[in-house]
Amino acid sequence: MPRLALGSRALSTYSGDTVVIGLRAGEASKSSRKKAAKAEPEVVSSVELSAELAKGVAAAVEVLDPSTSVGSTTLAPAPAGLKAKKLLLVGLGDGDVSTDDLRRAAGNAARACAKDSSIRLLLPHDDATGLAAIAEGALGGAYTFTAHKSKPAEETLATIEIGTSLGKAHAPKDVLAKAETVGRAVAWARDLVNTAPNLLYPQSFADTVKEVVGASSGKVTLKVLDDKALAKGGFGGIVGVGQGSSRPPRIVEMTYTPTRARGAKKVALVGKGITFDTGGVCIKPAASMATMKSDMAGAAAVAATVVAAAELALPVAVTGYLCLAENMPGGNAQRPGDVVTMRNGMTVEILDTDAEGRMVLADGMSLAAEGGAEVILDIATLTGACMVALGPDVYGVMGNDDEVRSAIATASAEVDEPSWPLPLPADLRPGLDSFVADIAHKADRWGGALTAGLFLQEFAKTAEGEPIPWAHLDIAGPSFRDGGPAGHLTKGGTGVGVATMLRYLENLA
Ligand code: BES
Ligand code: MN
Ligand code: ZN
Repeated sequence: MPRLALGSRALSTYSGDTVVIGLRAGEASKSSRKKAAKAEPEVVSSVELSAELAKGVAAAVEVLDPSTSVGSTTLAPAPAGLKAKKLLLVGLGDGDVSTDDLRRAAGNAARACAKDSSIRLLLPHDDATGLAAIAEGALGGAYTFTAHKSKPAEETLATIEIGTSLGKAHAPKDVLAKAETVGRAVAWARDLVNTAPNLLYPQSFADTVKEVVGASSGKVTLKVLDDKALAKGGFGGIVGVGQGSSRPPRIVEMTYTPTRARGAKKVALVGKGITFDTGGVCIKPAASMATMKSDMAGAAAVAATVVAAAELALPVAVTGYLCLAENMPGGNAQRPGDVVTMRNGMTVEILDTDAEGRMVLADGMSLAAEGGAEVILDIATLTGACMVALGPDVYGVMGNDDEVRSAIATASAEVDEPSWPLPLPADLRPGLDSFVADIAHKADRWGGALTAGLFLQEFAKTAEGEPIPWAHLDIAGPSFRDGGPAGHLTKGGTGVGVATMLRYLENLA
């Protein structure tokens, strides 16, 4: 990951590769009566440009006629007044510049400079929130995954300098340090998702988490429940899902205890970690299976969030539960019709072995409840139905508690990870009734995201059956990008949920 630094050296002596400046659509055309008059784009920068440089940039704009749409990039040779080699103009649109615009612009700019070694971003912002969006956006856009390349590219972006006019009161250095921690967490979650599923399976996932926790500056303790412990402990949900694979399931419990907790609630984060989802004996068609290495994106987000929460020393107690299993159709695989007994004692009738995520999460949630969780968030690539409802870029939020759901909505909006609320209609609950067991794990296809949520709701409870405030994040859509990169998002794993959960924890404190 590139290093972030405040760009303080004058532009006339800064000897990096590229300087990035913003462009907004000019206002002239709106007020002009002459329709034919084309507005001059407005050059916008976070620091004042010398008269010589401003003139050079204006001349480049005149000749190149660059697009001002958000995130579009236009490269030019450096004009007089810059010591750097190149000038990159990046569009910021025609309205007020939002933090999301800044993230996208910074992300595309960083990616356009992927072969440079050092760049300076001069995107306009007037507070720490804007600066953080630029920094996080640039790190997101610069992300690459080369672990499986035999000859990774030698040139990689090493330093991203960010120019700011914010004074000491905004603590810009601290803002960048924090953005680096968040950026590293997001990149790790992406790495885990992008790792090939022959190499990432429950035990290797647990080993990687152990390594990262060991190397991290935060204080996290780890406990791994192996397949023997899971069977002995009565975790029938995750044991059933994992039994068709030769690579047995694990639950990894990651605990961060702050030195000074500010009276906030004890939070449990429960992540779906299906390292590959074939569907089991209810096997998926090949096209639907192609991206199913990403079915552990929830667990990846939880792992990264707990490590980052510890590194940021957030004053909130957090325990992460990674529910890791591989859903395979081996000779010992579970069948439709099987009845399993869950960790909390409930019996569940399996109707479709492809509805496996809720089974592993339910056991994780019961463990969280036993651990005294006062709030539970679960995050999961749970249903295709949620993607049908909200499209590929927006995650769904359900839950049993208005306060937790709205706190998630707030956090998600603050970090530009779009989400939308979905209901848990009591009228759909009878769809989960089973003729033979306490409950079935799925209903008919209508409202598939909601009935999955209704199933999980049964496990957001104390041993006495009291509801525990809980929200469910269905990230099936935005966890993995099939198409190309866009702004701060890259192809493949996105790390969605890490920023939301971190902000949720921060806002709690
Ligand atoms: N992992 C899938 C959900 C999914 C689909 C995630 C597409 C990302 C992209 C999940 O385990 C699954 O198979 N869900 C089924 C549930 C059904 C069998 C009740 C689905 O959505 O079809
Ligand atoms: Mn499935
Ligand atoms: Zn799945």
